[in-house]
Amino acid sequence: MNKEDKPMLKNGHIEMPIDPSLDLRSEIAKMKKEKNAIILAHYYTNDEVQEIADYTGDSLGLSQKAAANDADIIVFAGVHFMAETAKILSPNKKVLIPDSETGCSLADSVNEKVFAEFLKQYPGYTVISYVNTTAEIKAMSDIVCTSSNAVKIVNSLPKDEKIIFGPDKNLGAYVKKVTGHENMVIWNGGCHVHGNFSVEHIKKLKQQNPEAEVLAHPECPAEILDLASYIGATSALLKHSIESKTQKFIIATEPGILYEMKKQCPNKEFYPVLSKSNDNTINQCFDMKKNTLENIYLTLKYELPEVFVEPTLANKALSSINRMLEMSK
Ligand code: 13P
Ligand code: SF4
Repeated sequence: MNKEDKPMLKNGHIEMPIDPSLDLRSEIAKMKKEKNAIILAHYYTNDEVQEIADYTGDSLGLSQKAAANDADIIVFAGVHFMAETAKILSPNKKVLIPDSETGCSLADSVNEKVFAEFLKQYPGYTVISYVNTTAEIKAMSDIVCTSSNAVKIVNSLPKDEKIIFGPDKNLGAYVKKVTGHENMVIWNGGCHVHGNFSVEHIKKLKQQNPEAEVLAHPECPAEILDLASYIGATSALLKHSIESKTQKFIIATEPGILYEMKKQCPNKEFYPVLSKSNDNTINQCFDMKKNTLENIYLTLKYELPEVFVEPTLANKALSSINRMLEMSK
């Protein structure tokens, strides 16, 4: 490709017309083969993205896959911190992100400078940070966790160990309750999607479908978790929906997971929950939905946008991520 053929990025992604006669699915498959590329997609992305992904998973599964694969190029369809984590785990691979402006309200709820000042108040504390953080926050942490392994990681530490847990206050409160770990200082951050499910809508769905189980992600606030019969990370909710004898489920997490739930359980019914701030809309993560077939096609074709993490920072962040991966085995 000539240098002048390289497209410009606008608003974090390549904006350019695509020939409407192209079959994007087969073009993507062809380029994946030619370039030895894989597509990793989070369960919250659009159905069409999950359909073409080589691996779909939650944050833990995606980190594990990013750490162990034979591809030369990883296209990460998720949000920015996830692609950054993949780059830290696979520094010699080219990591591409279809839209580099895929933010995360939870990752944005902790700022490096303020966090550094906060940590100074708690010398001797073990810092556990959720994977939904920037590389800078991970580099300031002792152990990274995801919602899949947070309970296991806290339980593996001595009961009297002093812990700082951040940035998700709901996950922190849930982990504290389940583990009974008293010495936990919890950062006051949160996800604006998981914090925005309508309690009234869950109650209404439950009234209409009394036999339905409510499945909730621990990033949800206590008033939602109190209504749930099962609480777990995205992959745990999926597994529960497959294994449960119940036929109907009310899902209090990002509704992208309904794609895999319906695929695995075609005879069961799944109900997404409306947003509490906008009654008639399904509560969803718009950043995850920025991943489309079109921008994955353009990303693979032009190998842009690429994710870079400064090596010294990446090395510091890697040790806390690796501690999590070791503890999750
Ligand atoms: P998990 O993928 O760990 O379930 O986390 C949910 C989430 O919000 C990811 O952004
Ligand atoms: Fe971040 Fe919440 Fe979206 Fe997950 S669902 S990526 S935590 S904003």
